Amino acid sequence: MKPSIAITRATFPDVLERLRAQFDVLDNQHDVLWSQAELIARLQGKTCAITHGSDRIDAVLLDACPQLRAVCNVGVGYNNIDVEACTARGVLVTNTPDVLTETTADFGFALLMATARRIAESDRYVRARQWNKTGIYDMLLGGDIHGATLGIFGMGRIGQAIARRGAHGFNMRVVYHNRSRLDPAIEAECRASYVDKETLFAQADHLIVVVPYSPSSHHAIGAAELRLMKPSATLVNIARGGVIDDGALATALREGVIAAAGLDVFEGEPNVRPELLDIDNVVLTPHIGSASVQTRKAMALLAVRNLEAVCAAVHPVAPAAPTPVNPQLLNEPARLRA
Ligand code: DGY
Repeated sequence: MKPSIAITRATFPDVLERLRAQFDVLDNQHDVLWSQAELIARLQGKTCAITHGSDRIDAVLLDACPQLRAVCNVGVGYNNIDVEACTARGVLVTNTPDVLTETTADFGFALLMATARRIAESDRYVRARQWNKTGIYDMLLGGDIHGATLGIFGMGRIGQAIARRGAHGFNMRVVYHNRSRLDPAIEAECRASYVDKETLFAQADHLIVVVPYSPSSHHAIGAAELRLMKPSATLVNIARGGVIDDGALATALREGVIAAAGLDVFEGEPNVRPELLDIDNVVLTPHIGSASVQTRKAMALLAVRNLEAVCAAVHPVAPAAPTPVNPQLLNEPARLRA
């Protein structure tokens, strides 16, 4: 009998075919958002699940689905999963790092440029047929990117890839703040200098947020941090909603505390605060940082490889999952759920 698995959101047809060839698959190709009760009901009897940021995997779900051995999340972030609860119950968690680093860095840089050079606003201006005169000297003036100071809040793999783009591609001075300072060789390669959080906010002409979301990064950027920034500065969030206090940001944008913002992630997404929808100096995108054809496919396939490894391993042999989030379980495979 084939192992029974679930994939909670729609995926590429060939990815689904690969799964169907090996497993009894419950899919969701209509991409209906399941309530928590529906998610629990659909994971009954499933050995593994391919999950997404919209699924909440918590202790209640894990206890209600005792056959679930692994949660293979599509995404580098996994703040939708209570990893501690999974580890305590021997449930392996995997994510999809690395394959999305360069694509997400490209997007972060694109959003930064769109924000600083007012590209979305310019597009709206032309479409609204407001452009009726050429050569207006102060029309839609933005801030320069080349030669400016790029601030990076969160210097993991994606932050470093953004630093390289800024330093080497646009001759920017790069400053960063991170929980821990990077190895000097990486700093040199990224041409990035470590600064404290206050200095980062005060010095950046363009500040990009790439820290993972956790209770300790909740509202790490609020009214006080925004007030530290230059009035000419732009702020971009490609990390997670909740790292920035969106209400405080909307006020700061309206009052000219900073010049502009670019947001790909939001508190409570897909809902966006109405105040943000009504202001011009913010560029809004629907959480598409990793959304290139190649990268979304690579993420799905990495999740599949993790799941295949778990299903192939016979308890208590540790599965050769390529990207575990709680690898301690692989060192003590007897703790894994059978
Ligand atoms: C990630 O990989 O974490 C992206 O934000 C997609 O959810």
